[in-house]
Amino acid sequence: DISPGSRLSPSRPVAVIAHRGASEAAPEHTLAAYRKAIEAGADALECDVRLTADGHLVCVHDRRVNRTSNGKGAVSALELADLAALDFGSWKKEGKDEDPYESPDQEASDRTSVLTLERLLQLVADAPQPVGLAIETKHPSRWAGQVETRLLQLLERYRHVVPSVRVMSFSARSLHRIRSVAPHIPTVYLMQLLLPRHRDGRLPPGVAIAGPSLRILRAHPEYVERAHRLGNEVHVWTVNEPEDVELCVRLGVDAVITNRPQEVLSQLR
Ligand code: G3P
Ligand code: CA
Repeated sequence: DISPGSRLSPSRPVAVIAHRGASEAAPEHTLAAYRKAIEAGADALECDVRLTADGHLVCVHDRRVNRTSNGKGAVSALELADLAALDFGSWKKEGKDEDPYESPDQEASDRTSVLTLERLLQLVADAPQPVGLAIETKHPSRWAGQVETRLLQLLERYRHVVPSVRVMSFSARSLHRIRSVAPHIPTVYLMQLLLPRHRDGRLPPGVAIAGPSLRILRAHPEYVERAHRLGNEVHVWTVNEPEDVELCVRLGVDAVITNRPQEVLSQLR
């Protein structure tokens, strides 16, 4: 039975990672979305990071701000103050009516303000229960190299209060930059399609977590066992539908990355 209310109770625990926060219930990458994910009990929070023109890491998925704000332009060409003047929440109407955070000013701004990675680290540090972070570096990027440098500086500063961090990327080069400076940070190699050189479960040197798309999992269900045989974990994105959660459980994946952490958690536990 894979209907939304049914529980799967997998034999091995499957970690639930909130993709851009609880991004179906609240605007992606906002404090409101991350607060909801923490309240739901997500094991970890996923976020994409980009560097502004004045050197701040912000949580924004697209190269440009056009889709998720009322502004225009590339994040890399804007300063933090420019982004702070934009509304990153009003584009998303769904779920707004029932949002308990809507009325007070602070909570309204949690829904609409750009989020810096530093503020997200503070939120995780202050969370009532341990929560991990899965941070994705976006590539290609105008500030390639500097993104990783700045990210490592911040992570080092928060290391004792935010101990459970992974860095993810579609770029093996970006992950290599992270590992060469901070080999203690686990890295996740994201894959949209399964290239022939990765079919046997192998990953770039030093990477021990595979991040295949759901599309890969459907086309190559044998991939999970191959990765596991080599000692690699498998974290799948983006898993929103009950039947896809069930597929992941059946194949024994280690983590699902989802826009609906609350729903997936109630299906799993
Ligand atoms: O968690 C990995 C996933 O987020 C990668 O795709 O486009 O949502 O960043 P995207
Ligand atoms: Ca991402």
